[in-house]
Amino acid sequence: MEQAQLDRLQQWFEAYVRTYNDIDEEGSRNILLKVEHTRKVCGIMELLAEGEGLTAEETRIAGAVALLHDVGRFPQFRRWRTFRDSDSDNHARLGIEVIRRHGLLDGLPDAERTLIEEAVRFHNLLALPLRFKSPTTLYIRLIRDADKLDIWRVFFDYFRQPDDLRPSAVTLGFPDLPEVTPACVAELAAGRIIRLEDVRVLNDFKLLQISWVYDLNFRSSYRLLQERGHIPALAATIPLDEPARQAVALAVAAIEKNAREYPQLTAST
Ligand SMILES: [Fe+2]
Repeated sequence: MEQAQLDRLQQWFEAYVRTYNDIDEEGSRNILLKVEHTRKVCGIMELLAEGEGLTAEETRIAGAVALLHDVGRFPQFRRWRTFRDSDSDNHARLGIEVIRRHGLLDGLPDAERTLIEEAVRFHNLLALPLRFKSPTTLYIRLIRDADKLDIWRVFFDYFRQPDDLRPSAVTLGFPDLPEVTPACVAELAAGRIIRLEDVRVLNDFKLLQISWVYDLNFRSSYRLLQERGHIPALAATIPLDEPARQAVALAVAAIEKNAREYPQLTAST
């Protein structure tokens, strides 16, 4: 992929999201959230690419993946007024529809188009399918990390805003009750990723996001997460009982350890 092709994709993206300008005020907060998210994910992707020593060509492909990974969010929100895939449709699949309908990757060699489409298609899987071999795996892992690194920011910003300015779809409609579900705490304490099906209240959803600490793929991701302090900030908004406090402390320790020791890309490929 040439730099000019990536530039054209960026111009397309800006024009595409402007077609969502006609939505109502509440809708536009949610649309804007995803526009802003996409821009930030692109920035994070550049940091990860640099941190992991990607080539210029790999960096451009990763940039295209970052730019396109959530394009399905726009038609999803317009049609269903939610970002919850289980109440609407898989936004990664919707993203592929947008990519193909607009012929976004038409000028690229088949191999590159496949890399980008597969990374978009599978960026939101709960766990990575093993059948994927490098190099597709590289981009799936990169976008999953870049995505999470910005979702932590989105979530934290949300809690700093007054109620009437909050983009309503961020918290997926979970009730904001003063409790945590012990099963979720137990998963986090065991170093496992909490499943959305186990989430009952908003605090559980926050724990789920903390449990993503166990699903990052690069040392650079852990470094960025540590630098940005998202996890302690998020944890400070949860009323933690003693088991939950310990589970969060383990997650924070895991970030510190992986920021120092996680195998670097050059060593693993
Ligand atoms: Fe995303």
